[in-house]
Amino acid sequence: MIDFTRDEEALACNIQTAKENNIIIPTIAQMKNPETVPEAIQQKLKTVGLWDVNPLNLFRITWKNEPKESGGLFRSVPNYIELPSELTGVPCRIIAMVGKWFPTGCHKVGASFGCLAPRLVTGQFNVKKHKAVWPSTGNYCRGGAFNSKLLGAQGVAILPAEMSQERFDWLHSIGAEVIATPGCESNVKEIFDKTNELKQDPQYMIFNQFEEMGNPLWHYNVTGNALADVFEAVKRPGDRFAGACFTSGSAGTMSTGDRLKELYPNLRLGVGEALQCPTILNNGFGGHRIEGIGDKHIPWIHNVKNTDMVIAIDDEDSQRLLRLFNTPEGQQYLRDELKLDDELIEKLTWLGISGIANVLCCIKMAKYYEFTERDVVGTVLTDSAVMYGSRIAELNDEYGAYSCNDALLDHNLHMLGLKTDSMQELTYQDRKRVHNLKYYTWVEQQGKTAEELNALWYDTEGTWDTVHAQAADLDDLINEFNERTGLLKAL
Ligand SMILES: Cc1ncc(COP(=O)(O)O)c(C=O)c1O
Repeated sequence: MIDFTRDEEALACNIQTAKENNIIIPTIAQMKNPETVPEAIQQKLKTVGLWDVNPLNLFRITWKNEPKESGGLFRSVPNYIELPSELTGVPCRIIAMVGKWFPTGCHKVGASFGCLAPRLVTGQFNVKKHKAVWPSTGNYCRGGAFNSKLLGAQGVAILPAEMSQERFDWLHSIGAEVIATPGCESNVKEIFDKTNELKQDPQYMIFNQFEEMGNPLWHYNVTGNALADVFEAVKRPGDRFAGACFTSGSAGTMSTGDRLKELYPNLRLGVGEALQCPTILNNGFGGHRIEGIGDKHIPWIHNVKNTDMVIAIDDEDSQRLLRLFNTPEGQQYLRDELKLDDELIEKLTWLGISGIANVLCCIKMAKYYEFTERDVVGTVLTDSAVMYGSRIAELNDEYGAYSCNDALLDHNLHMLGLKTDSMQELTYQDRKRVHNLKYYTWVEQQGKTAEELNALWYDTEGTWDTVHAQAADLDDLINEFNERTGLLKAL
């Protein structure tokens, strides 16, 4: 459960800072339904760029932004792409919600808001006294640094040194303190060690996405309902919302599935990871290239008991398709051979590496369950190719310039050719095995108790359900905070 204990003195300080910096905090309800954002704020957003460091952009932490670089308002149906069967090779419909149109170009800005907001509006985090530390394998620390800045606090980003250069450049550009830890994607232990070192100094407050329940709270309420909105908007008579797949970094996005399974009880929920680091599938380990996911441990906030399937994706598949979607030769193949229209081809650049992996998970799930034209599988595109220009350049250096023949091969071998290998439908006992792996990270190393671990398995109502429902309490606190700054009234 999220702790809402108040520190009145620090809260008064946060309110004063918000007042001085014109910071109004959006509620979770507004992120779900941004049409309810006050008209005066919507008017002001018409002159604000999507990535501007402007507190009004807190109101753009939603899947329903108009897809515009600047001045966008909100739409009733979230941004999504439907991937056609000519591309995917499976008959079912695959719908993918788009993270590119969040500030920072990635949905992780929502997860970081979910972690920061409870401590800000209770005063547990004091904007004048604390630095907000964002341990991450990439985008979470970008979202956290962005939110810290908007909320008048200093942000500290911790991320592995081998993450893409675009991430480091941007973090420096917004004035975040940046700490690079050894290794790549899957070196989360090194990040935890750095975090534990910083914890000794009281000026640092750690927002660990792998354990903070604000992360699933946000995804369950905002992403889960948004993906349901997309399905309701696109469904034809007889269509079933049959499956949803998400690769796991912190497993925050996986909570989307908890919401969807309540709304669509027959839906199968799949978790994806890299074949090169098959921790869920195989208790495995290893480095890999699907940036943002797969960290050689089971995150505390992964509701494993509710996860129906694990799917491992070869990182070579996602790398190959990154070039297919983002080079002129690849795009020519998509246009000439697959007859995709220019609008869709442009939208395929909205898939980052993990977004491609998410789509591949959907295809493998569709093959495994033999989904038909009546079935719909949902996922998200966490970020877009904007974050990976340097990776494409590296691939071009390594393999030589891309050609239409490469495109044909890549599409056939790395997408159409996917099989039902390296995946597993999880029985009760399989899930228990995965859940039990949490012990070694969280109880042995990170200070949780065995009772808390058991509660996540045996007491769904008292843990996961309670956290999901805490969105209403958080909104009450946010509304009270805004009331006390007086800024909403003065609009
Ligand atoms: C690019 C990218 N994809 C996927 C993920 C995984 O999302 P989650 O942490 O919600 O599991 C992340 C997490 O940081 C990410 O940055």
